[in-house]
Amino acid sequence: MKTLVFMFLKPLRVATLTLLVSLSAIATVTALAQTQRRSPEEIDREVDALLPKLTLEQKIELLGGGEGAFTYAIPHIGLPPLKNSDGPVGVRSWGPTTAYAAGIGLAASWDTAFAQRLGESLGRDARARGVNFLLGPGVNIYRAPMNGRNFEYFGEDPYLAGQIAAHYILGVQSRDVVATVKHYAANNSEYDRDNINAIIDERTLREIYLPVFEAAVKEGHVGAVMDSYNLVNGEYTTQNEFLDTEVLKKDWGFRGILMSDWGATHSVAAANAGLDLEMPSPEFMNQRTLLPAIKEGQVSIATIDDKVRRILRIAVEFGFLNHDQTELSTPLYNQESRAVALQSAEESLVLLKNEGHLLPLDLSRVHTITIIGPDAYPPQASAGGSANVDAFAPVSFLTGLSDAAPNLKVLWSPGIKDLSQLFGAGNFSTDEQGKHPGLRQEEFDSGTFVGKPDRVSVVPNVDHWEDTEFTTPANKKLAVRWAGYYTPPTSEATCFIAATKGGDSYRLYVNERLVLQGLPHRGEPQAAEIDLPASRPVSVRFDYLPDNDHRPFGLAAFPAADMLEPNVRKLAALGDVVVVSVGFTSETEKEGHDRTYELPPGQEDLIKAVVGANPHAIVVLTVGGSVATGDWLDRVPALLQTWYGGSEAGNALAAALLGRVTPSGKLPITWWRRVEDNPAYPNYYEEPGTHEVKYREGVFLGYRAVGKTGKKPLFPFGFGLSYTMFAFSHLSVTPQVASPEEPISVSFDVQNTGQQTGAEVAQVYVGDPSATVPRPEKELKGFERVELRPGETKHLVVKLNKRSLAYWDVNTHGWKVDPGQFVVYVGDASEYVPLRQEFTVR
Ligand code: BGC
Repeated sequence: MKTLVFMFLKPLRVATLTLLVSLSAIATVTALAQTQRRSPEEIDREVDALLPKLTLEQKIELLGGGEGAFTYAIPHIGLPPLKNSDGPVGVRSWGPTTAYAAGIGLAASWDTAFAQRLGESLGRDARARGVNFLLGPGVNIYRAPMNGRNFEYFGEDPYLAGQIAAHYILGVQSRDVVATVKHYAANNSEYDRDNINAIIDERTLREIYLPVFEAAVKEGHVGAVMDSYNLVNGEYTTQNEFLDTEVLKKDWGFRGILMSDWGATHSVAAANAGLDLEMPSPEFMNQRTLLPAIKEGQVSIATIDDKVRRILRIAVEFGFLNHDQTELSTPLYNQESRAVALQSAEESLVLLKNEGHLLPLDLSRVHTITIIGPDAYPPQASAGGSANVDAFAPVSFLTGLSDAAPNLKVLWSPGIKDLSQLFGAGNFSTDEQGKHPGLRQEEFDSGTFVGKPDRVSVVPNVDHWEDTEFTTPANKKLAVRWAGYYTPPTSEATCFIAATKGGDSYRLYVNERLVLQGLPHRGEPQAAEIDLPASRPVSVRFDYLPDNDHRPFGLAAFPAADMLEPNVRKLAALGDVVVVSVGFTSETEKEGHDRTYELPPGQEDLIKAVVGANPHAIVVLTVGGSVATGDWLDRVPALLQTWYGGSEAGNALAAALLGRVTPSGKLPITWWRRVEDNPAYPNYYEEPGTHEVKYREGVFLGYRAVGKTGKKPLFPFGFGLSYTMFAFSHLSVTPQVASPEEPISVSFDVQNTGQQTGAEVAQVYVGDPSATVPRPEKELKGFERVELRPGETKHLVVKLNKRSLAYWDVNTHGWKVDPGQFVVYVGDASEYVPLRQEFTVR
């Protein structure tokens, strides 16, 4: 019993009042796990007793994944095969399940108690499926909006992300399911993720990119860590001794399992660097490779034993040798999980604009709502890749809104044509006169467009978006060219759209001029609008270089005006208000490639057309971060960010629009006016001709750059509107003169000065203007989300500790506090801090 209290309470360095709020949740965690967990010493004793029962061959067998993403079983010691499932937004690998709001939405809740509840819910869903390892949370820092996996992660701030991660993990593990924090480390883009060599200086690593993992280990007691695909400072993470052994295992004292990302192991060097488990199957950590390496003294028995100990330790600690992991009596589809999914979607909503108090909608005046846009239906419960969830009964925005009130009439249109429709339309001809429909398809087995093609045919269109039958012959580098003509029917702008996935690339030429270029793993689809005279054919050439795998791709040309559905404006005008639901999908925002910063083709025009027809327009975004707001944001009165809301996204949206829920989410990212204002932008892609990504912005990432670069965000980090109003007052920092070791109390009042019940997130930032090294003006060091009734005031106390004041000192390789003046700022966004007080550290 004692053990558990120790395990869960001791490391939660009560940094914020949030923890007080979550104590009841922790008590539940404690109660649940008390019966099963033992002290580290007891666990080690049991592992010591098991280890000699294994032969060296059996030990090695444990170090690589077995069939179907299970680990190997060792029946004679009672170790079953351990089952993995992808997370992080649902237990997604073994069939339909509940989808929770995306990770970035959870971070937008700033609600650590809820993060723990969500973790418990994931743990319950995992137990219903007999899952031992949940492959989540994903915690890579948001560096630029283009990263295709930002939606899974917890935003740009290491402290916020660390607190959310630690509580998520505590929740998952309270159900005896091992959480796996990933991807360690610096997997901050999907673009070329297998090859990127992230060049990050020591201080930036320690202050920005590692603290989330550190919190997961020290505060969340995570059982497993997953290495990433990329390299960090010249070495693949799976064989990066500095990260895997020096930092993770020695500095932070990680006792669990370090596994590879799927196929991310590159050599047997991983064994010595600290990798414990090669997933999904042992290409290097196998007997064939390790037995000779051991014999030749390259890998020691002690090294192997340490890995086996770690695996057994987790198996013993989580009770895998003693209980059946599958809880048959827990329904896979259950109301508890559904309720948590609904709360996750509601708390994640961030209201970014609400001019003239358009929201909440008043049902005594609003009788018809039009909802228009590609994300309104079908539901976009989650984005794509290994985090994509096949959700039980996901509720779309259209259905959520339609079910929300009996007398409410909801009209709907997708608003724009989808890609399959456009690619399927063809519209090309092989001859200038336009008599012979189709395109000439030329295939070059050499992989270049030099010489004669090996095969020539005529095809009706380039449409392999839904069917990916156009496969590259095995092990062949293919180059494919489509050539022909397009004759614009009108003299309005012509739109060309091309799209591929993964490592494919292409060039599109119109009248021999390059108009679109697709680079591997970059955002797709891309569009170009060109003014062309009516009835005058233009030549079209599409040169496509598929990567080894076959991927969806397509090409379309059509009058730009045809992108919109014909009745969009009429439908928009029929609504008392109109909701424009735009953003990305699991096809356009996903693992394996980045996304575009701009909304997908046609969506900006859609917003402008809709708001032109009905000024009472609410733009609702489905996207894992910020997007270009172009010239449409000034025209729309209301903007709501929903990220990816999971199974219950539609019900949550309806509740927020109708005022049954007051939006309380706050941005876990800085939303810059222009993507170029992001300090990481110039450094986001590889240096030309290399795989190096140099993190030149250093510690000045996101809001930390404000004050240094002079650029002001469009919506600052921590920002989000509410239907009510809050006021901060009575800031007091004690003691006023402190030693670095002394805890510092920051206390203040938050009052709900509006007419509705709502939640506010009080944010505490610290500045160190007298530091001997350059430091950001403000850094988040504490926060608390509080629910307040109209007129209600709560007095909050947030504790700061030495770490809240420190920077990473590269001379001593440790955390350092410079004596001098510090500043505490309190408010509800990094740029809205009405309270400010100085104190001194001696
Ligand atoms: C992803 C991981 C995931 C694994 C197993 C990898 O491609 O990067 O996040 O857990 O696949 O699906």
